[in-house]
Amino acid sequence: MSDISDRYAATAGLYDLMAASYRPAQLAALESLLAALRPEAGPVLDLGAGSGLNTMAVLDRVPEAHVFAIEPSATMRALILDKLAARPDRHHRVTVRPEDFFSAPLPDRLGGAIALGVLGHFDPGERAAVIAEIADRLPVGGAALFDLQAPARPQRVEPFEFTVADIGDLTYRAIAEAWPVDEDRMRWRMSYLTLERERVLVEDTVEHEFHHPDPARVSEEAEQVGARLQRLGESTFWLLTR
Ligand SMILES: C[S@@+](CC[C@H](N)C(=O)[O-])C[C@H]1O[C@@H](n2cnc3c(N)ncnc32)[C@H](O)[C@@H]1O
Repeated sequence: MSDISDRYAATAGLYDLMAASYRPAQLAALESLLAALRPEAGPVLDLGAGSGLNTMAVLDRVPEAHVFAIEPSATMRALILDKLAARPDRHHRVTVRPEDFFSAPLPDRLGGAIALGVLGHFDPGERAAVIAEIADRLPVGGAALFDLQAPARPQRVEPFEFTVADIGDLTYRAIAEAWPVDEDRMRWRMSYLTLERERVLVEDTVEHEFHHPDPARVSEEAEQVGARLQRLGESTFWLLTR
């Protein structure tokens, strides 16, 4: 893979403020995984752990679980380590690896896995390998939660702006727009703004390509390694079960 270490630098500053809008949906999906976790079989993988929201949720909700978090972006990793700095009682239950997925020394066995907001970073060959590596390490009946982000198929997304937060005298906003690249990929442009009324104090823009695979194809990739996919209701979340 190309160097992804700083791709999230612009995003990290507003990450948790932005996540607040979709966090309830993530937490609802996480409930389905929690029921299927097998903490006695091994640590729970949090692939692309980001700011650590899901790592912390597992540590909160499953007292016997250990988490193996992988987060290659230094700026995002600072956010998860910041959360852990406030909770020294959890330090013996979590490891935060700085490598990308294919460079990190994965545990032999996993008690479950979370891959939220990250699968689209992998090309089709890499994605199939990620699914195989995870499925191979789960116990029979074990599960992994992932999402396939909207839109389901590549298409033009006109710019849309949303307020992330009003904090004190300043407003934090994000603008997203996207273009289809081919039948599988989209190019996303995200701008993050800090405003004092109409005056822009900070504007960071980042672009990245993201894969929006056909779920039928991902389902085949899972079947090839003895796992099956189940969509959680009408959501963008999927549970892979071995
Ligand atoms: C949209 S964020 C999602 C963060 C978190 N999982 C969440 O749901 O809030 C995607 C994360 O995946 C990480 N990532 C991207 N490519 C990766 C790779 N090859 N291996 C591991 N993590 C990766 C990024 O650094 C980023 O923090």
